[in-house]
Amino acid sequence: MEDVLRQLLPPAEVAPQRLHEAMRYAVLGGGKRVRPLLAFAAGELCEADPQRVEIVAAGVELIHAYSLVHDDLPCMDDDSLRRGKPSCHVEYDEATALLAGDSLQSLAFQLLTQHRLTEQAEAQLEMVRLLAIASGSRGMAGGQAIDLASVGKALSMPELEFMHIHKTGALIRASVLLGAACGRALDQAGLGKLDHFAKCVGLAFQVVDDVLDAESSTSTLGKTAGKDASRDKPTYVSLLGVAQARALVGELSADALEALGGFGDRAERLRELAGFIVSRQF
Ligand code: IPE
Ligand code: IPE
Ligand code: MG
Ligand code: MG
Ligand code: MG
Repeated sequence: MEDVLRQLLPPAEVAPQRLHEAMRYAVLGGGKRVRPLLAFAAGELCEADPQRVEIVAAGVELIHAYSLVHDDLPCMDDDSLRRGKPSCHVEYDEATALLAGDSLQSLAFQLLTQHRLTEQAEAQLEMVRLLAIASGSRGMAGGQAIDLASVGKALSMPELEFMHIHKTGALIRASVLLGAACGRALDQAGLGKLDHFAKCVGLAFQVVDDVLDAESSTSTLGKTAGKDASRDKPTYVSLLGVAQARALVGELSADALEALGGFGDRAERLRELAGFIVSRQF
């Protein structure tokens, strides 16, 4: 994945150099690559050609990296540390970070249209649409808008779930569905099961992020710990406390694994990743 991303990003020597450097800085050399791994695991479930999955995996990771660059900007979470390094706007400047995020997003869609991902062009258009919805106001960006509008407020459980499903769940769900879409089509019931798995894992991912923000350290996370409380963000920890938030993660994980029950060995990588996502320390 590191090689794929390195090759797909514009070279730093090509103009506009500073923008290209910032794009590469934001994407390369850090990050757990959970979304690409989920795409590959779902691709394996559907016997997809890994060279096709590579492209959707890169696409979701580029969108994710862009979301982190913008998330760290002073107008959003105002974070100066990301993936163990200065945030993009600190290393470069705000305007460059803004444009790097914009350009990463555009590059993601460019990739999904310039490589063949399925036999039918219409099915590929559907994949592009799926990523667009997951990234936009009905997905990640919408969730981020709710996040910012919720500072200092006590959200209800359904409101908090709605926020997390959008800001983080949507792109994780897209990673799984796009990886699967590169391979042999699942029947309706199978697709429903996979989608349910993805939704549970996507929500669990952000609940764990909230727990780690409260419990872990800046050096382990590579980003500022304790940020949610200091910025008065409603999170699963602020609403439920750490113990109950962790219990919810356990429930979501059980639910996710149950959804994979009918798939047998082909879903082993997805099971492993669900295990990693709920037990991760960073
Ligand atoms: C952090 O995502 C932001 C959230 C959506 C919770 P990750 O924890 O996947 O960040 P990286 O990619 O590993 O840095
Ligand atoms: C970010 O959530 C979700 C995104 C879409 C980037 P957070 O604001 O909690 O992510 P971190 O903790 O800064 O990585
Ligand atoms: Mg945020
Ligand atoms: Mg943040
Ligand atoms: Mg967080």
